[in-house]
Amino acid sequence: MSAGHDTVVAPAAPPRTATGRLVEDVVLGARIGAMRAGGYVLARRGDRVARLLHRPWRLDPYPVYAELRAAQRAGGAVRSRTGLAAVATHSSVEAVLRDRRLGVRLSDGRSRLGEGDGPSLMEPVDLSLLTIDPPDHTRLRRLAQPAFAPRRLAHYREVAEQVTGELLDAALARGGPFDLVTELASPLPIRVISALLDVPDVDSARFARWGLALGSSLEGVRSPSHVRELTRATDDLRALFGQLLEQRRAHPGEDVVSTLAGAVDGGTATPDEVLALAQLLLVAGFETTTNLIGNAVQAMHRTPGQWAALAADPSLAAAAVEETLRYDPPVQLTARFAHEDVEIGDLRLRRDSGVLVLLASANRDPEVHPDPDRFDLHREQAAPHLAFSGGAHYCLGAPLARLEGEVALRLLAERAPRLRPAGDPVPRVATVLRGPLHLPVTA
Ligand code: HEM
Repeated sequence: MSAGHDTVVAPAAPPRTATGRLVEDVVLGARIGAMRAGGYVLARRGDRVARLLHRPWRLDPYPVYAELRAAQRAGGAVRSRTGLAAVATHSSVEAVLRDRRLGVRLSDGRSRLGEGDGPSLMEPVDLSLLTIDPPDHTRLRRLAQPAFAPRRLAHYREVAEQVTGELLDAALARGGPFDLVTELASPLPIRVISALLDVPDVDSARFARWGLALGSSLEGVRSPSHVRELTRATDDLRALFGQLLEQRRAHPGEDVVSTLAGAVDGGTATPDEVLALAQLLLVAGFETTTNLIGNAVQAMHRTPGQWAALAADPSLAAAAVEETLRYDPPVQLTARFAHEDVEIGDLRLRRDSGVLVLLASANRDPEVHPDPDRFDLHREQAAPHLAFSGGAHYCLGAPLARLEGEVALRLLAERAPRLRPAGDPVPRVATVLRGPLHLPVTA
């Protein structure tokens, strides 16, 4: 069964205020501004954790990660005046992710920003699995798992190959420079997720816009107008998924939305839970994969001989994906909160205190990855990289991300073996997500 254009609802009327009252919007804006300004002052004074959140340091966070690893080796987990601790070495990052005494909520189940259970002004987007702990997390994760079964992955591979072929045909036909991000890396995952959710005729530009808006929520709220933008995108998406769920209830298919609709009918999940889960699948699989492809091409162009090696042997595409995930991961960090007083190695955390878990830093730990700042397609991966996190929240879409990355890089190397930069990339200025917003190349 498939959905047509009629399932895509018109955008909701834009909310005029974020809080509902103009004066509270002003207060919210002032609160966010004060937090940012305070963080910037700390960063200027040398607080390395604060530096990860601010320019210019976050444009190239790798030297800051190296300092954090050294500081951690010298004296235990790094404390910051921001109130957060941080772990930066491979072993400590892995240990924190695997420790069941830490979670993504506070010990009493409240949301980490302390504004209740559901979406709040400081966290307006419900990111489902990413923001819930067991046992609810275990129950809901099970619902999404069938979307990544081997049989489904074989189908996504066909979709990815077909879509990549079409996108490359269009980009290469013009014969001049093109933007690798807007013409390949961004539309590919949107089209694959449309297949995953069985939304074949969806207006993919609008889907992409929603995904971009919601992805930006991973960085935290920037301003009242950002809250309004997020609320609008969430409302639109909820309306779309609400209609899809109704349709699949009446005519179930084999897609993940049908599974979710069945779970509501069977009483294993509430409508709100499945709407948030469907929304997460869009957000989690979109910009992350876009960044993977962008970061891979960028790294190979910046490191002599690497693109030529892939062009000479496109079967190295899977190795290029793994090395990119290690060297420049699309998701740089995550956070956990202690559910009791804990000691993990040198890290001591009091109940309900938070720790930043620096995945990208773990991947450059020289104790685990020799010569870690060198991108090397032929690297023996001595230890697993942590680009997909670990423990209970290990990325559910990892096999799909790998598949899309491999298909995109292989076809690109086959069809455009002389691919080279055609201008300066435009970087995304963000802390959690990392990758170029625009990457001009020419074949
Ligand atoms: C290169 C691409 C990707 C990267 C680097 C990535 C990375 C991550 C990371 C780091 C987490 C865990 C965050 C944490 O521990 O707090 C995560 C979770 C998740 N990812 Fe991915 N992801 C990618 C692609 C995808 C795709 C394609 C999908 C699906 C369409 C997806 C779906 C999810 C879901 C559902 C979760 C939540 C799992 C849970 O909380 O149990 N991801 N991802």
